[in-house]
Amino acid sequence: MKRKVIIALVVVALGIQLVPVDRTNPPVLNDLHAPAEVKEILVRSCYDCHSNTTRWPWYAKIAPVSWLVSHDVDDGREELNFSDWRAYDARRQTHLATEILESIEKREMPMPIYIFLHGEAKLTGSEIGTLRAWRP
Ligand code: HEC
Repeated sequence: MKRKVIIALVVVALGIQLVPVDRTNPPVLNDLHAPAEVKEILVRSCYDCHSNTTRWPWYAKIAPVSWLVSHDVDDGREELNFSDWRAYDARRQTHLATEILESIEKREMPMPIYIFLHGEAKLTGSEIGTLRAWRP
């Protein structure tokens, strides 16, 4: 009995690997232009979910984690994609700039689970200050 359950679990675990997952990085056509110190912070802490230059980690290749990661990247790119930034109109850019600061100051972004996995994404007070002083 136990053996059958284990075999069934293994079959399911392998089977779900066959579900196709979108892990593409579309071409970068309108990437944000910003001072180097601002850009460095955003690339390190936001670009994995908010650009077309996602670094897909190894665990993003294994279902069901891959489904969660690709879902976050899809949603993240939809809300704010720095690779499309220069194609946004001025109103959208201004609105997003406000939201970016808000989300950082409320510690909603980068997502806490992401900081847990990527310690380097955690922003220091001085980095938040650099972003606050930036006007895109
Ligand atoms: C692990 C993926 C991930 C990372 C890293 C990440 N975000 Fe997000 N972000 C999302 C997702 C998913 C959404 C859409 C759903 C939501 O709002 O929670 C989002 C939404 C947003 C929004 C839209 C408004 C809002 O608050 O919902 C802003 C602005 C934003 N992120 C800014 C940032 C900034 C700035 C960084 C880097 C400091 C960052 N994010 C890092 C996944 C991420």
